[in-house]
Amino acid sequence: MYRSHTCGELRVEHAGQEVLLAGWVHRRRDHGPLIFIDLRDRYGITQVVFDSATAPAAHAVASDARIEYVLQVRGRVVQRPEEAYNPDLATGMIEVHATEATILNPAKNPPLYINKEGGEDETIRLKYRYLDLRRERMQRNIILRHRIVKFIRDFLDREGFIEIETPILIKSTPEGARDYLVPSRLHPGKFYALPQSPQQLKQLLMVAGFDRYFQIARCFRDEDQRADRQPEFTQLDMEMSFVDQDDVLDVIERLFTALCREIVPHKRLSTPFPRLTYAEAMERFGSDKPDLRYGLELVNLGDVVAASSFSLFRAALDNGGQVKGLRIPGAGNYSRKQIDEIVELAKQAGAKGLLWAIVPDEGGEVRSSFGKQVSPDEMTAIIRRMEGAPGDLLLIVADTPKIVAQTLDRLRREFGARLKLADPNTLAWAWVFDFPLVEWNEEEQRWDAVHHPFTAPKDEDLHLMDTDPGKVRAKAYDLILNGYEVGGGSIRIHRRDVQQRLFDLLGIDRETAMRQFGHMLEAFEYGAPPHGGIAPGIDRICMILADEMTIREVMAFPKTQQAVDLMTNAPSPVDERQLRELHIALRLD
Ligand code: AMO
Repeated sequence: MYRSHTCGELRVEHAGQEVLLAGWVHRRRDHGPLIFIDLRDRYGITQVVFDSATAPAAHAVASDARIEYVLQVRGRVVQRPEEAYNPDLATGMIEVHATEATILNPAKNPPLYINKEGGEDETIRLKYRYLDLRRERMQRNIILRHRIVKFIRDFLDREGFIEIETPILIKSTPEGARDYLVPSRLHPGKFYALPQSPQQLKQLLMVAGFDRYFQIARCFRDEDQRADRQPEFTQLDMEMSFVDQDDVLDVIERLFTALCREIVPHKRLSTPFPRLTYAEAMERFGSDKPDLRYGLELVNLGDVVAASSFSLFRAALDNGGQVKGLRIPGAGNYSRKQIDEIVELAKQAGAKGLLWAIVPDEGGEVRSSFGKQVSPDEMTAIIRRMEGAPGDLLLIVADTPKIVAQTLDRLRREFGARLKLADPNTLAWAWVFDFPLVEWNEEEQRWDAVHHPFTAPKDEDLHLMDTDPGKVRAKAYDLILNGYEVGGGSIRIHRRDVQQRLFDLLGIDRETAMRQFGHMLEAFEYGAPPHGGIAPGIDRICMILADEMTIREVMAFPKTQQAVDLMTNAPSPVDERQLRELHIALRLD
């Protein structure tokens, strides 16, 4: 037996008992004849006292022990005198007086402090991830993640969903990113692809009659890494038969409401989740994943400046663009330098420029970057429309709808952060739906599917498919949370004729369709039920519930922004022999 109790278990009621503990040396204080060691495991920390007068052998072991040594201690539980209680520890009312101690394994001096929060470069944390994971914060995050996934499994099981594993070595399933390829040894020149998601497989499971499927599924995408993107990540992948959009939204909404109430009861969430059409989200926030914890909504000035002679407004409006603004309460005291920084930010977001105005006190003069170009009445109308109050800073962009949206979204997020408008203990879940089915790819001069080519168009928009495809809305929806897209899904096309019309629109000819999706098209001829699904991103949801800024903090072994595993040094070169077996010759040009 290595231990009778964990390091987080002992309380006053254990006083007097002889116990056996095992764990890591978290802290060690040497006071000569008395040595104090905080012994740690994942359950907690227990203070152990080694007294050279009563247990000289144990004291000698404690003298040799160093930080992160693995130690086993036998001793007696003693209630601490009241003035020595440690309110920060669950075990803080007791200590263990050691009678015997054994070093189970010594440890080198660790390259990072386990008993202190970071400060060191993240590369050190990733290289020594097994040490970083010993830290309280990481233990908390990984355990939180376990509880989230466990809750999901139990909830969906109760709802009649069946968890089914799908293969990792498959044929490419395009989700818009680059594939990770795996060369085949048995079939020279041929490759498997790692799934970007189990999209096609889950649809085939619906054809197979499984009706309600889920999987905690690993997905692989070779794309640019960001704080909320990793080359491999985990989805709660789901698919249901005989459902409409509302059925899918309903299950997910009940799941995440119950999950948050159980796992993060200290956080506020409002139910039912607000629902925004894509058009509304873009109009009000300039984003399809707005952070709804605060307002700061965009204001459309189109009609106010419709008759303006200001060339910038004219150019935008005459070319089908927009003039929109954002009112920043109380930022009117910004210095010229600070305003210049904001203008720079707007330029980085894609705008050619940013107009600004400061609302004066009653009777005062407006300070602005465009006062000479507009009439006083026009300026007054703009301020009124934007509900500007004295001391507000008004920011205005005139450009294409796309540039206006992305610039003002960037500024909205910037000021949301600066003004601390987002309450960290609020969870603003919401749905965005009615996405466009296709978008025009200017470079390739063709229509691309916004979600994927199996997403169903809205029935009432079907007639637009030939005449005005850009206006067709899809039965597609995103789940958003605090400004992140945390899930996406759609109702799928189950009718052969509609699928064919979409392929035609996307310029996918019969031969290409058969080569890429032949198995799907064939399967759909054998009785595909109406079906739809969704895939919430587990990493992003865990990140937000754990109050972390990157998904790396909720993944045990993440990769760097350059998709490198610093701990194992992957990717790495392989033997010439392995390459030969795979019929591969390297071309490093
Ligand atoms: P989609 O591509 O929108 O949909 O992905 C669903 C969700 O997965 C998460 N996600 C990621 N998380 C971390 N790193 C990444 N690189 C990454 N990429 C995506 C996001 C996203 O919302 N097959 C469809 C779902 C469906 O139609 O049912 C799909 O994969 O949270």
